[in-house]
This record gives sequence, structure tokens and C-alpha cells, in this order.
Amino acid sequence: MSDPATPAPGWPFWVGTSWKMNGLPDDARSYAERIAAVDDWHGVLPFVMPPFTVLADVARLLRDSPVQVGGQNMHWDECGSWTGEISAPMLRQCGATMVELGHSERRRHFGETDQTVNLKVHAALRHGLTPLVCIGETQAERDGGVADLILARQVRLALHGLTAAHVGRVMFAYEPVWAIGEAGRPAPPELVAQAAAGIRQELDRAAGAPGVSPPLLYGGSVNLENAAPYAALAGIDGLFVGRAAWTAEGYAALARAAARPPCRGP
Ligand code: 13P
Repeated sequence: MSDPATPAPGWPFWVGTSWKMNGLPDDARSYAERIAAVDDWHGVLPFVMPPFTVLADVARLLRDSPVQVGGQNMHWDECGSWTGEISAPMLRQCGATMVELGHSERRRHFGETDQTVNLKVHAALRHGLTPLVCIGETQAERDGGVADLILARQVRLALHGLTAAHVGRVMFAYEPVWAIGEAGRPAPPELVAQAAAGIRQELDRAAGAPGVSPPLLYGGSVNLENAAPYAALAGIDGLFVGRAAWTAEGYAALARAAARPPCRGP
């Protein structure tokens, strides 16, 4: 039997969505009102990450619900001459409790690096935001046999300079670059399980002990058909969803599909 004070692996289970660059004010409000009205999340921990322009509105509409709200990126500095950027205090004031960092679309198109992710992780924790760090290998890196090395490197550099106690306040999402978006192919669950085991070793090492290391979510072409098989993987603590959760009904249905009994044993 596991110690009752130690949550079973894979529980609590997170189901979150990033809207990416979608969500005009009317649509965002309607989405938020619909998920605010969901009365049973079946035990999952829900979160949404809307664009900055609607974040305050969405957070206000979800204030009395269990759904947490996060930004999709932020700068590491508090304020200053950083045209076009958003800071952690700004996100906090808008009602965000989380922030996504290092998504592969930001790494690929906007110059995000492991070093800037690390600066942002420190800033998020300083300001009471939970960082959700996205990591993942490209197809070429997987074909070249270095996927595990790449993942370990991304984890280590994201957590560089944190105390073991702070490591436990970070969340990770394993998102193979080749599995994400319109051209993505869902990763086979066995591959996700194998990658998750390697990532977990790195997280346990950084946290200083097994069982207290960060939650690890899976993302990349998650949909209603594959949500349950991913959710059943022992090394996965949640799902991070794009397209399939871009309607409130799609998101709520995914949360239902991923829900697992709270007393599930190890
Ligand atoms: P899709 O679910 O659209 O593949 O996007 C996943 C993702 O990038 C979540 O961050």
C-alpha cells in the first residue's frame, strides 16, 4: 500500500488547453461562460490558456470555478523596455495562476531557448505563477536516436538554479514536436510511456527524491479517441490539448474521457 499522504502516481490528473492564437472577445467569453457552468469535472484539474487580449475577461468569468487560467508565454523581467512583452506581475494582475513556457512553436518561430525558458521559470516562481514547461524532440532528433538526450537537456536547463523545493512547483508537458498541430501525428502510447520514464528520472533527480517531482503532462494531437489511453499511462499526470479543446464542449468532453477514479492505486 502507498502512504495515504503521498498521492498515487498519475493523480491528481490535469486536463488543460492552450487556445494558441484563437479567441476573439465574444467567443472567449462564451467559451468561459460554458465551462464555468460545468458542474462536475470528474475529479480532473482543469486549466485554460487563452490569448493575452482576453485573459482578464476569461479569468474573471472563471473566478468561482475550479478552472485555472494561464498565459501562453511571458517575459522574465518585471517591467521595462521590452516592447511587445508581458510580465509575470501583469499576468498575475489579470487573474492568471499559471504560465506556459517553451512551447515548441515559440522555440521554433520566436527564438525561445532553454536559457530563456530557465529565466522565465525563475521569474514565474518569484511571482507566484506555476510554470508549465513544454519539452519535446523533433522528428530528426528521434530518428537520430537522441530524443532522450534532448528531453533530459531541456529538463535540466529549464530547472537550472532552482532549489529542490522549487522544482516541485514546476509542471512539465511532454509534447513531441512531430505530434503537434495540423501536421502532427499522435504519438503511440508506448513511445509516450518510454519517454515519460526517462523524463521522470530527470525530474526525480532534480527534485532530490522520487514521488515529489513535478507533474508531467502529455500533449500533441490529443483527441476524444486517444485521451483515455494516454490518461491510462502510469507516468502521465495530465493532458495538454490544442485543437480538440478549442470548443467548450470539446474541452469538457475530453476532461470526461480522461477522468480517472481518485483512489486509483499505484
Ligand atoms: P494540438 O492538440 O492541436 O496538437 O496541440 C497541442 C499543443 O501544442 C498543446 O500545447
